[in-house]
Amino acid sequence: MLALRITGGLGQVMEQDQNADISWTAEGVPVSARFDDPYFSLGNGLAETRHVFLAGNDLPARFRPGFHIAELGFGTGLNLLAALIAWRAAGIAGRLRFTSFEAFPMGAAQIDRALAAFPEAHAVAGPLLSAWAQGARTIRTDDLEAEIVIGDARATLPRWAGRADAWFLDGFAPAKNPELWAPELLTEVAAHTAPGGTAATYSAAGAVRRALAEAGFAVDRRPGFGRKRHMTAARRPA
Ligand SMILES: C[S@@+](CC[C@H](N)C(=O)[O-])C[C@H]1O[C@@H](n2cnc3c(N)ncnc32)[C@H](O)[C@@H]1O
Repeated sequence: MLALRITGGLGQVMEQDQNADISWTAEGVPVSARFDDPYFSLGNGLAETRHVFLAGNDLPARFRPGFHIAELGFGTGLNLLAALIAWRAAGIAGRLRFTSFEAFPMGAAQIDRALAAFPEAHAVAGPLLSAWAQGARTIRTDDLEAEIVIGDARATLPRWAGRADAWFLDGFAPAKNPELWAPELLTEVAAHTAPGGTAATYSAAGAVRRALAEAGFAVDRRPGFGRKRHMTAARRPA
């Protein structure tokens, strides 16, 4: 049984469409005009998500009841849906908790169009799409409790009361979206990570790795996805 909590109004839906300024590649990949960067890999976004954010956080092996993922940059919701598919396959009881921070939300039609490239993710996107179209930012089903916190993460994350077991650090490229990789923000990520919790990102930029280390994470460089040689996985002491 599906239950949606509506927390927004039509005004917000209109605002979303104005917020995300998007063009589309011939292959159907959304590209942010504001940041001049694609929302996900031009090759295979779903496979990249699984490699970087799931395997990078040692998921699904670490899933347990009540597991809480947090994310910088909600975008199309593809990462949320990939996590939900993995959660279902792992057969963990109860709801996956997922909190994402997003400053420039896409519209529901844009999300629908972007996800159409990934039939497996699109097939489980119904609750997200219908909630989003109604302006809701909280989605609650039998196996998911998700909240998308709208606003600049530099302002919203410090006010967040939660602590995540795993972080998906998914801003646009650090050179194009430096505010989402600022050392102060990564310090807030560490402060909002449970003991023994982890963070992963496709970026292997030295500045990102150093900022995560200074924030208190043990930082590891792992093989990247596709043509990217490296990515970053980080863990807080237990
Ligand atoms: C690479 S996309 C995220 C892709 C997404 N995780 C997905 O599954 O489709 C980066 C996202 O970060 C958001 N963003 C950029 N700067 C931000 C900020 N200061 N605070 C919050 N979100 C931000 C962008 O609007 C964009 O949606």
